[in-house]
Amino acid sequence: MANLFIKKPVNQLMKEGDPSSHNAGSPGLKRSLGALNLTLLGIGGIIGAGIFTLTGAAAAKYAGPGIVYSFVASGFLCALAGLCYAEMAAMVPVAGSAYAYSYATMGEFIAWVIGWDLILEYAFGAVTVAVGWSGYLFSLLHKTLGIEFSDTAMRFTKGPFELVTFADGTTAHGIWNLPASFIGLVVAAILYRGIRESAKVNNVIVFIKVAIVISFIVLGWAVVDPSNWVGNPAVSGFASLVPAQQEIVYQGHNVTAYGWPGVLTGAAVVFFAYIGFDAVSTTAQEAKNPARDLPIGILGSLVICTILYILMALVMTGVVHYDQLGVPDPVAVGIDRIVELRGWSPGVKGAFTFLVKLGALAGLTSVILVLILGQTRIFYAMAKDGLLPWFDRVHPKYQTPATATVLTGLFVAFCGGLIPIEIVGELVSIGTLLAFMLVCIGVPLLRRSHPEYKRPFKVPAPWLIGPLGAISCIWVMSGLPLDTWIRLFVWLALGFGVYFGYGIRHSKLRKGGRK
Ligand code: ALA
Repeated sequence: MANLFIKKPVNQLMKEGDPSSHNAGSPGLKRSLGALNLTLLGIGGIIGAGIFTLTGAAAAKYAGPGIVYSFVASGFLCALAGLCYAEMAAMVPVAGSAYAYSYATMGEFIAWVIGWDLILEYAFGAVTVAVGWSGYLFSLLHKTLGIEFSDTAMRFTKGPFELVTFADGTTAHGIWNLPASFIGLVVAAILYRGIRESAKVNNVIVFIKVAIVISFIVLGWAVVDPSNWVGNPAVSGFASLVPAQQEIVYQGHNVTAYGWPGVLTGAAVVFFAYIGFDAVSTTAQEAKNPARDLPIGILGSLVICTILYILMALVMTGVVHYDQLGVPDPVAVGIDRIVELRGWSPGVKGAFTFLVKLGALAGLTSVILVLILGQTRIFYAMAKDGLLPWFDRVHPKYQTPATATVLTGLFVAFCGGLIPIEIVGELVSIGTLLAFMLVCIGVPLLRRSHPEYKRPFKVPAPWLIGPLGAISCIWVMSGLPLDTWIRLFVWLALGFGVYFGYGIRHSKLRKGGRK
């Protein structure tokens, strides 16, 4: 019986990540990203569908103004995981991220599980956001700009498992979500062309979306009505933001809402908004100075986005009462209210709504870009180890993992055209949490097994931070619905099939006979 837990020696992994071992003629990935580009990639991957869509419902249904604490709790969890990612990525700067680290710490089988699981985070994350992108595009063109769509055209804005409502109130199933497929392919084409070019596109988009987020905060802050922040008048101080636990009717259903349990459920929901900072670690082989710049990129982007999220949540719940935020476009609702409170004309209102939706579209585009980028690097690393076929081919001129990029783009375009957002959203969160958990466990394990390795960035108190991070991940996962768990297990079972059918037989580590 083969040893399922055969480990890749850490020094071999380090050699693969050694900057001097690449770019020497034969096509390898190109080292061209500095600290600023890495931080902007992180921000590009983070701010997107989470803040622009999920926040409103999480406030209305679970936490009220206490949603700000949900952001703090989720941000704290991500900070623990982010510290662990930073240590690993600086120590072993290879493209595979969590997959590669677990190959060294927990062996091939766990590495496979995590690599397969990361497909949920990156590829399915990109699918989820591509479907959200399609929704925002339709809303911008139809509702904001008043462009009319024929019934047939409308059926090409949703997949076959969703219903489209026509102007006369009748409904029909969608045919194909064409905009979702389109954006997946466009983004893959940019990534195919080169990492520098992709980073440049990302930088421009990040500039636009952060400008819009900051404008929202600045414009809204002055007109906040502090009484909107009082969720529970019976208590004082910080606790007053959290409405007392109660039964409410939410979109026609009776649900138990609010209280501290609601804040915690809210944290699980808004966790999606933080996903993406870890994608920075997948570009480790393209970083100019990975030891210094990866921790800056991972932690810098996380800190900036956490601050922006907390401020956004405060403004959103400060200008609109939380019970009116249960809409798919809470930021647009917020900006409408800000314009009203400032007494500006309807024309200004229209212009701002347009800008917010444009900002959301830009935001979602860079998230798709960073998530597909992450996916291609994971596939590349797995194929280099022999666990997957084809994906390790690097374009001779553009020095990008060309096959992985084309296939991931096609996958996102196909699934985006077909799958409804509800099926995949929480699956992405559970997949990401599983990866975070394993990285948190890996850090203290590797400290013990290989104390001698050079760690340019060190997690303080790893025996506390690592386990605390892992426990927090398990705890948030435990709050996700049973359906999501079942889908996770089905996905992992599929992965076992691929591993035992292909990976284990083609593993280069096994062929080399190393243990
Ligand atoms: N954090 C990313 C988003 O919210 C996935 O869109």
